[in-house]
Amino acid sequence: MVQGAANWNTEITEDWLQNYVDDWVSFYRKQTSEGEVASYIPILKEANQDHLGITILGNNGMTINSGDVDVPFTIQSISKVLSFIVGCMERGVSYMLDRVDVEPTGEAFNSIMHLEMRQLKKPFNPFINAGAITVCSILDGKTSDEKLEPLFELLEKMLGYRPALNVDVYESERDSSMRNRAIGYYLLETGYLESDLNITLETYFKQCSIEVTVEDLAKIGMILANDGEDPNSRDELIPRQVARLAKALMLTCGMYDASGKFAAYVGVPAKSGVSGGIIAVSPPRVREEELPFIDGCGIGVFGPALDDKGNSIAGIKLLRHIAKQWDLSIF
Ligand code: DON
Repeated sequence: MVQGAANWNTEITEDWLQNYVDDWVSFYRKQTSEGEVASYIPILKEANQDHLGITILGNNGMTINSGDVDVPFTIQSISKVLSFIVGCMERGVSYMLDRVDVEPTGEAFNSIMHLEMRQLKKPFNPFINAGAITVCSILDGKTSDEKLEPLFELLEKMLGYRPALNVDVYESERDSSMRNRAIGYYLLETGYLESDLNITLETYFKQCSIEVTVEDLAKIGMILANDGEDPNSRDELIPRQVARLAKALMLTCGMYDASGKFAAYVGVPAKSGVSGGIIAVSPPRVREEELPFIDGCGIGVFGPALDDKGNSIAGIKLLRHIAKQWDLSIF
């Protein structure tokens, strides 16, 4: 019997699970000292390296909040999942997949080299910067605010409030964006962009600067776990086909060039961002034994100290531990 799972005469209660998660968060918080906060965007250096927080929202209504759950952070690359979803909802899946592929790269998210070396007909996937910038160019709208309005509307439906843009992060990101501009110019030269370059980049910097909490990520994760349906209202917020495609991409490309290891050792669709956020999706699973969150759950994690691949160092370890203890893997 795994630690933290029920047996014949142990009922799985919220309090019981909460105690386990509190212990695990305290344990892994010590390992934040082994990572480093992102520094290539100046303002991200101000994050507190020791922070670690997690929210788990179950389909059965169970909620676990542990650690630094009240600290807001910018969504960063996790936004790439949402803009891809919005692009699919606006233009249709086949239009999007004609313009961005669904293959992992094995390279850093902001690599320029592979774009040229592999003579791509389209960016490898929507979660590397080249793919995400291409997606921003496809979104409907003449200005960055028009392009992002449907994404904000979708977030509002999912979260029950409209999240804000962190203007300081946006400006810091914009003012230190040499590499993303280089990628943008490359995409422009090769004919991938469908909108003006500056408006496209502004859209990308703004979507990365949306401020969220771990609870927000868990809510989005829970909707994805339900193939796009809000389990409370039963409204379909994301078409099923699009939600499933997004999850497939999260599993294969969501954790940068550590996506293979994450799939092998954690085994759930996930996406990380450089501010230390991770969204993870545990769909309903079928097992003979009773397990925590067997009906599915969404998980949000925040831990700004990153490993050498750019993923939250303690966040990954915490998720790996929980997935093992509660048998969350989809495989
Ligand atoms: O492009 C950047 O540098 C950031 N705004 C987003 C980076 C991020 O979270 C990692 N991308 N996969």
